[in-house]
Amino acid sequence: MKFPPMQLDNPLLPNYDFDAHLVAGLTPIERDSELDFIIDRPNGMQGFIINITTRGKGMIFRGEDQFEVGHGDLLLFPPEAAHFYQRHDQEPRWYHRWIYFRPRGFWSELLSWQLSTGGVYLTKNLSEDSVQLIESLFIDVDLASKQDTPFSGELAVNLLEQLLIRCKTLQPENAIRKLDPRIIEVINIMSDNICREYSVEELASRVYLSASRLAHLFREDVGSTIIQWRNDQRINYAKQLLTTSQISINRISRIVGYTDPLYFSRIFKRVIGVSPKAFRNYHVSIEED
Ligand code: FCB
Repeated sequence: MKFPPMQLDNPLLPNYDFDAHLVAGLTPIERDSELDFIIDRPNGMQGFIINITTRGKGMIFRGEDQFEVGHGDLLLFPPEAAHFYQRHDQEPRWYHRWIYFRPRGFWSELLSWQLSTGGVYLTKNLSEDSVQLIESLFIDVDLASKQDTPFSGELAVNLLEQLLIRCKTLQPENAIRKLDPRIIEVINIMSDNICREYSVEELASRVYLSASRLAHLFREDVGSTIIQWRNDQRINYAKQLLTTSQISINRISRIVGYTDPLYFSRIFKRVIGVSPKAFRNYHVSIEED
C-alpha cells in the first residue's frame, strides 16, 4: 500500500478541507493505486456523508464493529461518527460515490435511518431498481455540484433532498408490510405509553397469546425484539424532543422512560454516536446557519 501524497485541492486525498456546504465525488479505489489507503477520520467531519458502493467491496471499521459493504449498499455518516474505511482486502477494487453536506435544519427526520451500526446508518439489500434510482441521483447531485451556472448550487441541494427522501422511504420501517393485528395492538399499547415498562407476559395477555408466541411473532413481523423496538422508539422520541423543544435532558430522559439520566445518555450515545447534549447543540447550530 503506497502512502498517499499530501494534497490540498483533491477531495479524494487526505488533508482536503471540506469547508463547503456540499461536495460530491466518486472514489475509484483499485488495489495498490494512489487511492488505496484507509480513510481515517477518528473525529468525524463537520457535515454528513452519504455513500453508495457502486463496484467491488469496502470494509468499514475494524475489530468488533467491522462490516463490509457491496454493490448498492448505502451508508450515512452523521457528523460525529468516526470514519474508518478502505477497500476490502479480498477484493481488487472498491468504487463508491459520496456526498458530503451540511444539512438543512428541517432535514433531521430524513437523516435518521432505521439501522445503525457503530454510529453509522446502513441500508442493504435494496432492489436493483432502487439502487439504480439512488445511484442516478448521486450522479445528478455530483454533476450539479460541479456546474457553475445560475442556481446550480440550489439544484444540487434540491437533488440531494430528493436523494435523502428516497433513501428514507426505502427504510424497512416505511415499506408497506402486513402486520398481524395483534402485533399492531401491542405496538399501539407501547406507543401510547412509551415511558412505561411492560413485560412480554403482560403484553401477551392483552392480545391473548402466550409470551413466547408473541415474542416470536413480533420478531418475525417487525424484525427486532419487543425490547429493541421499544428502545428505538424511546431514542427516536428523545431525538425529536431534543431538536424541537427546550425541555432539559434530565426531563427528556424521564419522559421517554429512563429514570436515570446518566444511563439514558449512555444508551443514547451508544445508539446515535454522540451524547444527547452534543446532538441538541449540533442541530441548534445547523438551524441557525
Ligand atoms: C474522500 C473519500 C470518500 C469520502 C470523502 C468525504 O476522500 O474517498 O469516501 O470520505 O472523502
